[in-house]
Amino acid sequence: MNQAAVLFVCLGNICRSPLAEAAFRREAKAAGLEILIDSAGTGDWHVGRPPDPRARAEALRHGIDISAYRARQVDLEDFHRFDHILAADHQNLADLRAMAPPGSGAVLSLLLDHVEGFEGQAVADPYFGEVGGFAQTWRQVSMAARTLAEKLSGS
Ligand code: 4NP
Repeated sequence: MNQAAVLFVCLGNICRSPLAEAAFRREAKAAGLEILIDSAGTGDWHVGRPPDPRARAEALRHGIDISAYRARQVDLEDFHRFDHILAADHQNLADLRAMAPPGSGAVLSLLLDHVEGFEGQAVADPYFGEVGGFAQTWRQVSMAARTLAEKLSGS
């Protein structure tokens, strides 16, 4: 894999996928990759809103300000614009597969498929859980961000 465009997808685009986007932006920059990076949700409830305050706080704990991010919903163009679409969980992946238009070149996978030993696993949804869930989400998405950046830089 060389130059690429990567989209992270969860349900609301306010918790998991913005954290994945933030972690991956950092890794891609560190690896010197020039990649189109974005995130989106399969649902539309939070469109136009900033990330959940707990996600913003978690990102800030790692030195990243995601308060300017705004939620948006996945659209059909995404399947042509992005080479890789990474789903946080199995339902997100099923929803993406169901809406993928014919002729789309985007490769769909679970985010954690890219982490050795975590293939087939979901990034747990922290939205209805306790605050500690966001720290776990960060650990999961930052692991995936690192291995993705390694793959995309061919190392
Ligand atoms: P996310 O978390 O998909 O990681 O952004 C959620 C955000 C909102 C809802 C569920 C999950 N919700 O039901 O509104």
